Amino acid sequence: MTNVQTFIVEPGTPELAICARWRANAFPVLQASFEDELRSLELFASDQAHGVALIAKADGKPIGTCLLVETEIEPNHDVSPWLAGLFVVPEYRRKGAGAALVAAIEDQARQREFSRLYLYTTDAAGFYARLGWSVLDRTNWKGFDTALMVRDL
Ligand SMILES: CC(C)(COP(=O)(O)OP(=O)(O)OC[C@H]1O[C@@H](n2cnc3c(N)ncnc32)[C@H](O)[C@@H]1OP(=O)(O)O)[C@@H](O)C(=O)NCCC(=O)NCCS
Repeated sequence: MTNVQTFIVEPGTPELAICARWRANAFPVLQASFEDELRSLELFASDQAHGVALIAKADGKPIGTCLLVETEIEPNHDVSPWLAGLFVVPEYRRKGAGAALVAAIEDQARQREFSRLYLYTTDAAGFYARLGWSVLDRTNWKGFDTALMVRDL
């Protein structure tokens, strides 16, 4: 198990570009370029009242990211808030970083006094189930068979 720490991504920091690069490459379904991602993350990070972007580091090096957002992109369910955009770099997977980012986003939601948190996943339902999440519904989201999952906080 690697020593993973999570931090809030602040506007104007180089970490925004790192997260934007990961997001543009890892989530082609979003059809957003690096520049698109950078712009929207910069805006997002500058208003932490409505959500937060986290970055995970191991040995001082950025290894992953996750967001707490009010609204998923084109949601099929009228629920809020959402855990979104979880990503860990391949060479640091299966070392606890994903679980650490999920726990940190859950904490951010608790700090904002939410009692439930939601997410969509196409192929990581097993990962989230191990972390205490349950499948609430299934839906066709952007053409993919997708689970709506919930976590009571
Ligand atoms: C999904 C992802 C974030 C997991 O990150 P990770 O750092 O490897 O996760 P962890 O090491 O914290 O794993 C926690 C547990 O879940 C298990 N696990 C990891 N990925 C899994 C998966 N895809 N399915 C089922 N279980 C999984 C691990 O074995 C571990 O269990 P253990 O503690 O008993 O060994 C990572 O694989 C990733 O970035 N994938 C690409 C992007 C993605 O699919 N994001 C999710 C979008 S909804």
